[in-house]
Amino acid sequence: MISALLLLGGKGNRLKKNVYKQYFEINNKQIFQYSLETLLDCKEISKVILVVDLEHYDVLKTFISKTYKDNNIDIVIGGSTRNISVFNGLKFINTKYPKCSYVLIHDSARPLVSKEIILSNIKNVKKYGATTTYININDSVCNIKSIKNIDSYLDRNKIIKIQTPQCFKFDIIYKAHLANQDTKITDDAQLIMNLNQDVYLVLGDERNFKITTEFDLKILETLLNENGRK
Ligand code: CTP
Ligand code: MG
Repeated sequence: MISALLLLGGKGNRLKKNVYKQYFEINNKQIFQYSLETLLDCKEISKVILVVDLEHYDVLKTFISKTYKDNNIDIVIGGSTRNISVFNGLKFINTKYPKCSYVLIHDSARPLVSKEIILSNIKNVKKYGATTTYININDSVCNIKSIKNIDSYLDRNKIIKIQTPQCFKFDIIYKAHLANQDTKITDDAQLIMNLNQDVYLVLGDERNFKITTEFDLKILETLLNENGRK
């Protein structure tokens, strides 16, 4: 059995809006609904677990049961960091779905994830145990001494940007979280790397960008309207 954790536990501080970014509405849909619907469309995924902030738990429960009748969606309360939110989701799966063998973890702030990327993570996790989505870097990248002073240029062919989804054998990622509760860790593949285990790389795409700023919202709006997607 494969479950998906969809993360909605953040507060979207860098996007200075009066609503957390995952709940911001574009074309009559809240941002989290775009990736939720793509996940629900993957028949390989049996359960989608939404990890939400405490404040929105009740509202979301009502909204989900009204909007997605008959769907396999659970809702769990997250924590003060992404890492804690993921761990809460994993603990829920461990108790409620002991038969879960793989878990796919995705940021709801990446609404345009494709089914192909999700399915490629799922295909490869069965062979490699841990996968992450990535894209290449187009700009030059440097180490700096200070904000006004470059230290050295890095070889960008040896650098990638990490996206989600990431997919893991359940036991491996659950043990990694039990062993390491470092709240500064920003994704789950890092925990696997810290255990000296390899993470298989799945090529993502630029459409799968993370909404962080007002500019990202504008790009999302443009892309959605270009596709005629509602
Ligand atoms: N996330 C989460 N729980 C947290 C923090 C983040 O579930 N305590 C989720 C977010 O909802 C988001 C994903 O992790 O979908 C990636 O995090 P990020 O882009 O940093 O979102 P926020 O933390 O909400 O934004 P910001 O850092 O600007 O406050
Ligand atoms: Mg954050």
